[in-house]
Amino acid sequence: MADFSRYTVSIDYDRRLYKQDIAGSMAHAKMLAKQGIISEDDAAQINQGLQTIETEIWEESFPWDPALEDLHMNIESRLHDLIGAAAGRLHTARSRNDQVSVDLRLYTKETIVESVKGLRGVQNALVGLAGRHENVVMPGYTHLQRAQPVLFAHYMLAYFEMFQRDIGRFQDCLQRTDVMPLGSGALAGVAYQIDREFLAAELGFSKISANSMDAVSDRDFVVEFLAATSVSMMHFSRMSEELVLWSSGEFGFIRLSDDFTTGSSIMPQKRNPDFAELARGKTGRVYGDLIGLLTTLKGLPLTYNRDMQEDKEGFFDAADTLTTTLDVFQAMLPGMKLNEERVSGLAGESQMLATDLADYLVGKGMPFREAHGILRELSRHCDNWEIGLQDLPLVEYQKFSGLFENDVYEITAESSAAARNNPGGTAPGRVAAALAEAKKLLEAAGHGF
Ligand code: ARG
Repeated sequence: MADFSRYTVSIDYDRRLYKQDIAGSMAHAKMLAKQGIISEDDAAQINQGLQTIETEIWEESFPWDPALEDLHMNIESRLHDLIGAAAGRLHTARSRNDQVSVDLRLYTKETIVESVKGLRGVQNALVGLAGRHENVVMPGYTHLQRAQPVLFAHYMLAYFEMFQRDIGRFQDCLQRTDVMPLGSGALAGVAYQIDREFLAAELGFSKISANSMDAVSDRDFVVEFLAATSVSMMHFSRMSEELVLWSSGEFGFIRLSDDFTTGSSIMPQKRNPDFAELARGKTGRVYGDLIGLLTTLKGLPLTYNRDMQEDKEGFFDAADTLTTTLDVFQAMLPGMKLNEERVSGLAGESQMLATDLADYLVGKGMPFREAHGILRELSRHCDNWEIGLQDLPLVEYQKFSGLFENDVYEITAESSAAARNNPGGTAPGRVAAALAEAKKLLEAAGHGF
């Protein structure tokens, strides 16, 4: 019969949890000794052995053995080789079910903290871009049709807001990840007088899990991490789509630095925005990781089932993808060059100002709905003539409404943006205030959480 033992093996990927596994074991041994469940001498030997193992893994001299299936068995077996009988006492009052949970929770907590740092870095880059081109107007879009002028800084701060919400989702997810499951044993708890609060304190958890059966079968924190990561990748994907469009010849809004574009093997003129395209592409795989785990979990009865071993590959994949995407955007955004002349030129094209012309009539007493209808007619008229609204003689304007006067020519992209002077609007004063607010927020957050 063929050897199928490989099917159950997880060390190829769960070895990434080695630091967390060793930290968990050290805390467990210390607690067992404190409680008089094992001797201080055994605990000291276990601690010593685990330190050696950590060094061996770090130095890549650790003898990984697939026959031992997973990380936990590999470490325990090696501990036995190193210290002998005392190693056999480490697994007292513990199961791999609560062990793997604590490992993954520790790892997820670290990943969340790193992700938030990266998101702060991206926000910082956006604030930098916004500040560099603070009062530049550009076309804003709906339906990817030119709609109304907006400040470039306002555009950048829109993404700042998205990433701010992402940070909130990660911080929220952290609360439910930050729960210490050791002491749940296989599923029912353990038959020794252990000290779970001590374990939580040793390992830096804020609280202990309330129900042993839930604790060993709960992977909600991974699902939530994947969900938060998916939403964040969705934001990066949307921004990537924007960068792809903006760097095209048709838009010509931006130029990405050579470090983040590539040439074509056949077309010498090409500067392809591969990094943005790949961020957009990788987003699909991250969604797959989320759907994969949700599907894995949906049919599982309590408590631990081996299916749950399948939580890790998708988790690592999504975490790595987010990490590298955050690194790429932190490096790519500051090097993005905006073609100020082009974007402000397009923002000033008269069809972008149709709403402002309607507002102009409203200012002279006309109901908005009526003004809207007149501007619709005027726009059509100009389209047929292939002429801009600004180039239309006043007599022509007056055929549509007697309210038009010479000051109609004072409407520009800048006056349009300036008019949107309410909280959340694109008026320069509002955007400057939002930018100051964003900077304050980043300063208060520092590089940390
Ligand atoms: N490798 C397993 C996992 O990742 C560890 C827990 C195994 N527990 C068990 N009873 N087989 O889920």
